[in-house]
Amino acid sequence: MGNISLKFDKTFDFISKESVYAYADEIKKHSEALYNKTGKGNDFLGWVNLPTSISEAELADYEATAKSLQAKNIDIFVVVGIGGSYLGAKAVLDALSDGFAHLKGSKMPHVIFAGQNISEDYLYELRELLKTKEYAMAVISKSGTTTEPALAFRLLKQDIEDKYGKDEAKSRIVAVTDESRGALRKLATIEGYKTYVIPDDVGGRYSVLTPVGLVAIAVAGFDIRALVQGAVDMEKATGPEVAFENNMAAQYAAVRNELYRSGKLVEIMVNYNPKLHFVAEWWKQLYGESEGKEGKGIFPASVDFTSDLHSMGQYIQEGERKLFETVISVASPDREVRIPTDPENLDGLNFLAGKRVDEVNKMAELGTMIAHVDGGVPNMQIELPKLNEYYLGQLIYFFEIACGISGYILNVNPFDQPGVEAYKKNMFALLEKPGFEAETKAIKARL
Ligand code: PA5
Repeated sequence: MGNISLKFDKTFDFISKESVYAYADEIKKHSEALYNKTGKGNDFLGWVNLPTSISEAELADYEATAKSLQAKNIDIFVVVGIGGSYLGAKAVLDALSDGFAHLKGSKMPHVIFAGQNISEDYLYELRELLKTKEYAMAVISKSGTTTEPALAFRLLKQDIEDKYGKDEAKSRIVAVTDESRGALRKLATIEGYKTYVIPDDVGGRYSVLTPVGLVAIAVAGFDIRALVQGAVDMEKATGPEVAFENNMAAQYAAVRNELYRSGKLVEIMVNYNPKLHFVAEWWKQLYGESEGKEGKGIFPASVDFTSDLHSMGQYIQEGERKLFETVISVASPDREVRIPTDPENLDGLNFLAGKRVDEVNKMAELGTMIAHVDGGVPNMQIELPKLNEYYLGQLIYFFEIACGISGYILNVNPFDQPGVEAYKKNMFALLEKPGFEAETKAIKARL
């Protein structure tokens, strides 16, 4: 089957190999703390052994739900959620889907997201679309109280009930939330929706391999067993007993922390395939929320190359020298497109005739890596043999476990997000939410 792999020799102009390997003992301790649940945030470590603990019955249940929704001949599956209740599924679905499936009329339901913003235009346009389509819905919120998805669901619940009647609507809605707490749990119980539980000890951004991600991925027709198997294999390949030289999660955590200590404050996740755009968005949430606290943390950024070589490429080559890049590279594309010969050769491209488009892309990738390293930007590469469920499962778990280790190296709690509350408090105060009277008065005095 093969494995995804990590190369980091293109950082050695900036940090030494010895300095990276010097993290080995410390990382073993952090890794043990994650496994033994003795480190910071230890009540949120359910994701560490999650892949190997997913049961056959759970997978069969998600697949049965997917089949019963597909049997309703739905065109669209709307997933209502934000943050960790949105980005994991979006990342996997975009990575695996034909980028034009929605225009080609695929047999499988197309997954569309809602509740990941508060845009009135977005909700208006989505609701107009749904009037003309067959659809079903998942509403996902661990806390069950997040404003964005709650607001979107209030609107979409009324629409789906108006369209299909209350009883049929009920059979088209799946709720994924906490076992007992939160407004969504209460609502789902009263309405009698099919529900799935997000384990107490798995935080939002580590939850893609729970029903939060797996139900939508199954509804879209992808192989959740292969995805989970990839994660299982990566769980085994990155445990505390795996030596540093064979442990790519330990190496990635060490390299990025050593670069950070050397003054590289921004990590740019790079892809050369637009299908990976949302893998980087998911990674940004995972690392940004886990590490950015107490005045510390690498700033996670992302670019889509080669598109962004014609915009951000200039800055990366010659701007502030505080950057490093991590490239997600896919060894073989799924499809083959060869460049034709043109007898006129007016575009001067006959030197490429007969080559695959991917060969050009790979030379752009190699040329960019050399140029950026020459320009002062250290480079790591994560290579996936192919873009499929199995290797995405490996990639997801790799990033998660490396994030836990990396957060412990920084000496922060990688499993909380206290900073997210600040905007909520101000928003509720400005909206005059009951219970926020004092905050409303205080914030209004500042306007
Ligand atoms: O990682 C996290 O915990 C957060 O980003 C949450 O996923 C996000 O805030 C959504 O929360 P909830 O699922 O409770 O609606």
